[in-house]
Amino acid sequence: MIVYKSEEEIDRIRKSARLVSLTLAEIARHLKPGMATREIDLLAEAYIREQGAIPSFKNYQGYPASCCVSVNDRVVHGIPDAYKLREGDIVSVDCGVLLDGFHGDSAYTFAIGRVDEAVLALMAATKTALYRGIEQAIAGNRVGDIAFAIQQYTEKQRGYGVVRELVGHGVGRELHEEPQVPNYGKRGTGVVLREGLVIAIEPMINLGTRKIYYLDDGWTVVTQDHKPSAHYEHTIVVRKKKAEILSDFSIVEEAEQNNPALNTDYYRWVGEHEAVEH
Ligand code: MF3
Ligand code: CO
Repeated sequence: MIVYKSEEEIDRIRKSARLVSLTLAEIARHLKPGMATREIDLLAEAYIREQGAIPSFKNYQGYPASCCVSVNDRVVHGIPDAYKLREGDIVSVDCGVLLDGFHGDSAYTFAIGRVDEAVLALMAATKTALYRGIEQAIAGNRVGDIAFAIQQYTEKQRGYGVVRELVGHGVGRELHEEPQVPNYGKRGTGVVLREGLVIAIEPMINLGTRKIYYLDDGWTVVTQDHKPSAHYEHTIVVRKKKAEILSDFSIVEEAEQNNPALNTDYYRWVGEHEAVEH
């Protein structure tokens, strides 16, 4: 069942999504080499609870932490642990909060210090792909239009691997609602998008093979070739002419730019690649 949201409900999801962005910004202020991924989780959980919200991921189907921290070849759902970030790593932080009955969900990939050009380009392309997907999230289009835009740009145009096993999703009173929002598919197929549909779009893009496997922890998704993977996610609401983005990267980016331990060289490529071929 697809649940369309009223403006009053969208307002509440906007507040949840904003809190997720503020949490990611708080993390962005603290990231540096030597920081354990567990510390990121502690920071996130404390921040979320201070704001009177609940971390959506904690205990979700047994997930043991408040955010997912996925370094390098970890695609998503990395469990925070004693691993210490190093210069050259990229780290995806995925976070969700439950506030006033509604969830918000967003993720962002950061680069620690000097990172390979090819990996910075992957980050830029993944962020661009997220926005290409969001451009398609307008009333009358279909889920497959979002999927196609992301796949076309990343796989066809850039030659990256698009992860198939994990997808975006509806967001609302539940963290994961219908419909599923894959990052690959055919134009003009799938559920028709209507105004008031709130979804999380979250491309997971691999530098090499699209193939993944799960670690024995049952959560962590890893690339089969151990090449890096990037992940950006926004919670958005479908509108008539242009989707409204409920999470907010501008506050995350401000913190990212002001942290000398983080590399923002990839910004120069975001959105600057050739137009999508049809
Ligand atoms: N953004 C992730 C997703 O939608 C968050 C889920 S992680 C979990 O899959 F731990 F909560 F499962
Ligand atoms: Co999600």
